[in-house]
Amino acid sequence: MSVPIVRTVAELRKTVAAWRKTGLTVAVVPTMGALHEGHLSLVRAALDRADRVIVTLFVNPKQFNSAADLAAYPRTEHEDAAKLAPLGAHMLYAPDGAQVYPEGFATTVSVSGVSEGLCSAHRPGHFDGMATVVAKLFLQTGADLAFFGEKDFQQLHVVRRLARDLDLPIDIVAYPTVREADGLAMSSRNLRLSAAERQAAPKLAEILFATAERLTAGESTENVLAEARQAVVQAGYTKVEYLELRAEDDLSPLEAAERPARLLVAAWLGDVRLIDNASVQPRQSATETLAPATAA
Ligand code: PAF
Repeated sequence: MSVPIVRTVAELRKTVAAWRKTGLTVAVVPTMGALHEGHLSLVRAALDRADRVIVTLFVNPKQFNSAADLAAYPRTEHEDAAKLAPLGAHMLYAPDGAQVYPEGFATTVSVSGVSEGLCSAHRPGHFDGMATVVAKLFLQTGADLAFFGEKDFQQLHVVRRLARDLDLPIDIVAYPTVREADGLAMSSRNLRLSAAERQAAPKLAEILFATAERLTAGESTENVLAEARQAVVQAGYTKVEYLELRAEDDLSPLEAAERPARLLVAAWLGDVRLIDNASVQPRQSATETLAPATAA
């Protein structure tokens, strides 16, 4: 069995219209290809929730900050299609550049607030490019549901904000980060790590989770984050771009985990930039942990 590959918006719309005529629901899983188990989990989750699942594959030039990074991004369409077929995905939408950005294209979707700081402090324009292509993919597919991994936690917030603000009739579904057996968050960029870098890579998740635990235990955020940054570099990482504690619901900066939070990190291993995040839940206060009083 193979997955049908669709290359044009016209063919995509014709197929989706036929599905809709018979009352079928549609989900989309946007990707840039080089599919790994993280993507495949999103596809499985989408298949559980919708009658038809479209996986999109488009390496979006507008969200890359350097031509070298864009050129180095893995392109493995043949293998990607082979991975999707046994899952039962209904379409691989792999448009060429002109289907997404036709001659004269002049629109940018820009989300403020949640897209500020963290990744965008180091990748100017990245979220504008990402939001622009995601808005297009939502409108081209007309899907009811869209699936995104929590590894790209800031991206997830930007996409949610975008869908809400533009009244796009699509539900954004988040799926937990999928990890390798050694803890490394799955990412298409992992393919670019050398053997030695791949060995060092899982230290990032190890330090992240240990740090999240210390923050949950109420240790000083400033000290714990400073130690964690040092530990990441000692583990072989070249540079820590950011390691920050942010509120889970709106990504506002936090000085302590007084409300549900996320610890987010971006760090370079050689010339590969990796990101990850971990949940930090506030400690229950003494009064909250007391058993409720029973009525006399
Ligand atoms: O997460 C990604 O792979 C990309 O940012 C996305 C959402 C497919 C948009 O190009």
